[in-house]
Amino acid sequence: MAQISYLNGEFLPHEECKVPIDDRGLLFADALYEAWCSHNKVFFGSREHMARLRYGAEQIKLDIPWSDDEIIGVAEKLQELNGLTNTLVYLQVSRGVAPRLHQFPKDAKPSIFMTARPAKFPSWEDRQKGIKCVTFPDLRWGRCDIKTVNLLPNVLARQAAAEKGCYEAILIRDGVAIEAAAANFYAVLDGKIYTYPKTPRILGGITRSFIFKFAKELGIPIVEEGIPEEKIWTAQEMFISSVSIDVYPVTNVDGKVAGGGKMGPVSLALYKKFHEVNWGEPLKI
Ligand SMILES: Cc1ncc(COP(=O)(O)O)c(C=O)c1O
Repeated sequence: MAQISYLNGEFLPHEECKVPIDDRGLLFADALYEAWCSHNKVFFGSREHMARLRYGAEQIKLDIPWSDDEIIGVAEKLQELNGLTNTLVYLQVSRGVAPRLHQFPKDAKPSIFMTARPAKFPSWEDRQKGIKCVTFPDLRWGRCDIKTVNLLPNVLARQAAAEKGCYEAILIRDGVAIEAAAANFYAVLDGKIYTYPKTPRILGGITRSFIFKFAKELGIPIVEEGIPEEKIWTAQEMFISSVSIDVYPVTNVDGKVAGGGKMGPVSLALYKKFHEVNWGEPLKI
């Protein structure tokens, strides 16, 4: 089945979705994006993703002329047109097309595109084993709370991870683990979950907000503090979070066993919550 995507009001064969070379998303990374998933055709957290998009738009003074309902409707339609059951939708909104001048163009219209592809969730076996990560310097700008397509530092970090046969990179700034290249990062120390505070240094993950909710329900304290790099070696557990992985244990860092070497009880308890919400039934293990 040929993939159908969405561009500025039209559902088109994917190959026909073409963006002009003067699009400010291409020229300046003057664009925002969102990605979110469905399980068995039911999208999770759509409203929260829309709220983060609106926050980013406000921060960069981008006036998005589509309502949340319109955008969510396009995601549903793409899922249907592409015959998908578990879907990862990707949305990008740029400030539009205009001759290359840094300041905002006066009359450019924002442009929007969206794709829907089969979501690939980690298997239960992979979750139990956990992932290998590298540490990598955080080279990003000062507004990581805005989900812009300005992702070259994240690309370099992920590439460094891939070159070492690892899944992710843990970004280090001033000796502190900030987050991962495409996920939030957590360490469990003395029964508490430590994670970097929600400041402009990190992206406020939607999955992270659900982790806070679930941890509260489970009675597990969360401390919003950066994790000093050396604490990586004493953490009982570590994990990362994002929409497509929920909670994924980190069991090896820079080639050394870490975080207990396998999925630990905190990661498991949180993952069970996500499983139940996503699939509408308890995890059977
Ligand atoms: C840098 C970064 N941090 C955190 C996240 C996790 O965000 P979410 O839970 O909304 O997927 C992402 C996801 O793309 C990300 O790119």
